[in-house]
Amino acid sequence: MEGYKLSKDLHPGEDVVLYEGYNHKVIYLGTKGISSGIGAVDVLSYLIVDNGEAFLVDPGGYHIFPFLVFKISKYIPLDSIKYIYFCHQDPDVCGSLPMWKDVCPQAKIVIGELWVRFLPHFGVSDISKRAIAIPSEGKHINLGKTPLEIIPAHYLHSPNHFNIYDPVSKFLFSGDIGIALGNFSYLVVDDWLEHLEYLYTPHRILMANNKAVKVWLNRVKNRDIKAILPQHGAIIVDKDVKNFFKFMESLKCGTDLMKD
Ligand SMILES: [Fe+2]
Ligand SMILES: [Fe+2]
Repeated sequence: MEGYKLSKDLHPGEDVVLYEGYNHKVIYLGTKGISSGIGAVDVLSYLIVDNGEAFLVDPGGYHIFPFLVFKISKYIPLDSIKYIYFCHQDPDVCGSLPMWKDVCPQAKIVIGELWVRFLPHFGVSDISKRAIAIPSEGKHINLGKTPLEIIPAHYLHSPNHFNIYDPVSKFLFSGDIGIALGNFSYLVVDDWLEHLEYLYTPHRILMANNKAVKVWLNRVKNRDIKAILPQHGAIIVDKDVKNFFKFMESLKCGTDLMKD
């Protein structure tokens, strides 16, 4: 039976199956609080499982690696991870890559084409065998029986940054778009106006400009999206998806705010 678990009282420090359908699951790995405990920015990591194959979304930095191995092992054996995806090149996304490439030698590393030649700096010596380079226009990757869509989101904030749309759960994994920073303790947004305060500053500073935002909005805004799952902050659900798009549409950010 298909079902969502996106209630407002989910604990951000606990793993949870956010969506479960026929042979398809999306799991939040309970990563919030681990990184802030050592003074680093917190990350949200996710796992998509379809027909026994797994796709790890943004595994995060160096120090959360053992925690993630433990959490993922509750759900699937590590050798069923077929893809390890990095939405862009930052250390809060890729810091654990050197360990993951060794622990999951069968897994392909999925990352934007601009960043593939940076992979040897993480110890990946055989990029032609290990990496799947996402072209700048995006691509589909089949996980089990589901074609995941990798959607360009360039300059928001990285010049080669991507989102994933899962057509089964209707989740948009938005990387550094939709991120929120601040002292709050929920996993799923409840009070939109309160959450806007946490969204505003990172978007104003990190997003390149309103033109890049509009290009991205045109790619995503008419899709059937149940929830936006960013790499930091909190999950945006139901009617707040449209509220978020409205916020982005009028956002002045990055180079829009530069003075001569
Ligand atoms: Fe980033
Ligand atoms: Fe990030």
